[in-house]
Amino acid sequence: MELMSEQELFSVCEQVLQTNRTGNRTKPAEGPYPHQWLWDSAFIAIGLRHLDIEKAKAEILSLLRGQWSNGMIPSIIFAEDGSGSKDRLVWGAWRSPFAPEGINTTGLTQPPVIAEAVVKIGEKLSTQERRSWYTDVYDALVNYHEWMYKERCPHDDGLILLIHPWESGFDSLPPWIEELHDHHRPWWVSAVDNKFGRSIIRLFRRDTKHVPPGQRLDSIDAMLYLHAIQRMKRKNWDIDRILSKSDFALEDVTFNSILLRANTHLREIAKHSGHKLPKDLVENMKKTEESLEELWDTGHEQFFSRNAVSHKSVKVPSIATFLPLYAGTISKEKADRLAKLLKDKQSFNGKYPIPTVPFNSSYYSEFRYWQGPSWVNTNWMIADGLERYGHKELASSIRKSTIEMVSLSGPYEYFSAKTGEGAGAQNFSWTAALVIDILR
Ligand code: GLC
Repeated sequence: MELMSEQELFSVCEQVLQTNRTGNRTKPAEGPYPHQWLWDSAFIAIGLRHLDIEKAKAEILSLLRGQWSNGMIPSIIFAEDGSGSKDRLVWGAWRSPFAPEGINTTGLTQPPVIAEAVVKIGEKLSTQERRSWYTDVYDALVNYHEWMYKERCPHDDGLILLIHPWESGFDSLPPWIEELHDHHRPWWVSAVDNKFGRSIIRLFRRDTKHVPPGQRLDSIDAMLYLHAIQRMKRKNWDIDRILSKSDFALEDVTFNSILLRANTHLREIAKHSGHKLPKDLVENMKKTEESLEELWDTGHEQFFSRNAVSHKSVKVPSIATFLPLYAGTISKEKADRLAKLLKDKQSFNGKYPIPTVPFNSSYYSEFRYWQGPSWVNTNWMIADGLERYGHKELASSIRKSTIEMVSLSGPYEYFSAKTGEGAGAQNFSWTAALVIDILR
């Protein structure tokens, strides 16, 4: 593998964003990802703003067209050109009275990175243009943040619960796999959990047609993920019915940390566009700030997600522990502990930053997605948080190694944290977009 120069890398990334663009939105990658994903589009817009501000705005506006009438912004808007057309059938999101007419979406959400993208676009605009841009998106964002608190915060403690690992964006992160095995394993699973059963399931998988099976979710787990979706579909995506007989739900560290950052941005958006945020929303935002601290485990000195029903902490170490740095609301003392953990060679400090699972975990797998490899979006968010806590050198070394890793392999979906070798989808849009952002 030969290193590309920064200039070469920049134009390769620019090319990826151009090629993956279709209409007003950008696909994550050709092949496995033909649709529009929520947090992908937000990261893509953060890169696009350096190339073409109107395209960056259009990317966000096109995402908002999928918003449900109850405020939810769905994780995926399905492609209108028929690609991946069977995907939408799995969901049947139209069974919900809140789903939009004429637009096919999933019935779940994804990490709320949109406010971050809105503000990053705003940084490129004049005061007047910014005000009008913020006004354009204000209502949609407020409705979205209110929806999270109304529908997904039954304990009224400010922590949002997720009902499926796909909502976390970290689809197969080990804490979610543990929860799946503990709380969502129907009796009949043992009947198919054998070599024959697995090979049949693999025949129906779309992801492993594009990426080697060893890099993706185990086949039984993949089937259970789909089974959980079918269960929610049968309940017409009604949250009360979904939660009434299930304890497969997590107060997820990553999602809540990203929400906290988004809340900070939303305050800024309101201020600069002359709006006053609803009082309830402001109170809820404060509660999230306080409750995130409860996810800190003093024994392990790490943040862990917890089961939303039993409140039992899922003590499985992963990259999620660092996302509160990005939230920016935790104490300086905890931030310093996390910065120290990032330098620990046994766990998180490899040749390339930052493995999704520590090297010394039994879950660690060099190329299995969200179970070991390094991703550019997590590096981007964690470096951003570190910088705000004053760990400037560490932040800049993470960014530098991220660029080196992508220069070595090209804009892949994820990378070995040991060698920098690229894996997953090629020409991956958020890798390209965030590299452009770091280089600029
Ligand atoms: C994978 C990732 C998810 C991402 C999607 C599209 O499912 O786990 O985070 O949004 O691909 O790129």
